[in-house]
Amino acid sequence: MRERIIQMSDIHFGEKNFSVDLKNNLLVQVEHENPDLVIVSGDLTNNGFSHEYEEAAAFVDELRSITKTYVIPGNHDVRNVGILHYEDLIGNRKFVHMDKDEEYAVIGLDSSEPDINDGQIGIDQMEWLKTQLEKIPDTMGKIVTFHHHLLPIPQTGRERNILLDSGDLMRVLTDNGVDLVLNGHKHVPNVWMVEKMVTLNSGTATTRKLRGQTRPSYNQLAFEDEDFRVNLVDTETGKKQLLGSYSVRVENDEYVVCSARHNSMGKV
Ligand SMILES: [Fe+2]
Ligand SMILES: [Fe+2]
Repeated sequence: MRERIIQMSDIHFGEKNFSVDLKNNLLVQVEHENPDLVIVSGDLTNNGFSHEYEEAAAFVDELRSITKTYVIPGNHDVRNVGILHYEDLIGNRKFVHMDKDEEYAVIGLDSSEPDINDGQIGIDQMEWLKTQLEKIPDTMGKIVTFHHHLLPIPQTGRERNILLDSGDLMRVLTDNGVDLVLNGHKHVPNVWMVEKMVTLNSGTATTRKLRGQTRPSYNQLAFEDEDFRVNLVDTETGKKQLLGSYSVRVENDEYVVCSARHNSMGKV
């Protein structure tokens, strides 16, 4: 399997620290990389306003003109009943993607709650997730994305806004053989591995709403046969840093991440 996925997050059109230069850099870099898939893990806007969504929709259209692109909402996108603009201009709040060779599947969830920063998957969506995961053959890689971080992220100050039902979600994900989780929200890149499941956080790709020494960045995922690598890419300089490398294989008819090497400095 040879696949490239770009995961970006926290674009924040309308935020005072949003940078048009970073957004333009990002589009040039995505076009150059020409990935098979782009995943935007929420917070496209800052306050869910219609004018922010108009700019966000133009950006998503540009990504969609380059490659297949999926978006899920973040807490900022559902402020001020912004979800109505989201559904009008961006698309569905959750999705299931099967890659063309049926080697991996990606499920997107909506963890946002109107006008609060906390996240929740909720009982109904959790059931929907279980049903979707059960339909995916075990031999395929399983990727799930949602905005709020599943696990605490270092170097982000006081922990808050973690998913209210993160324990229940963690159980569903690990019981159903999920290999990779993609989150955003904290604006700090990070990677953890628990129960053979890699949990990858994207930083903010296009803003300077940054904590400590974090740089604007996004994640580049490369699957090549039995090797899977994650690069952290600095949106300003284009410089890449290896964040994690893994060996993956199908063992007893199940796709598994066998070994991991992490370099989670969170800086580029
Ligand atoms: Fe954000
Ligand atoms: Fe957020």
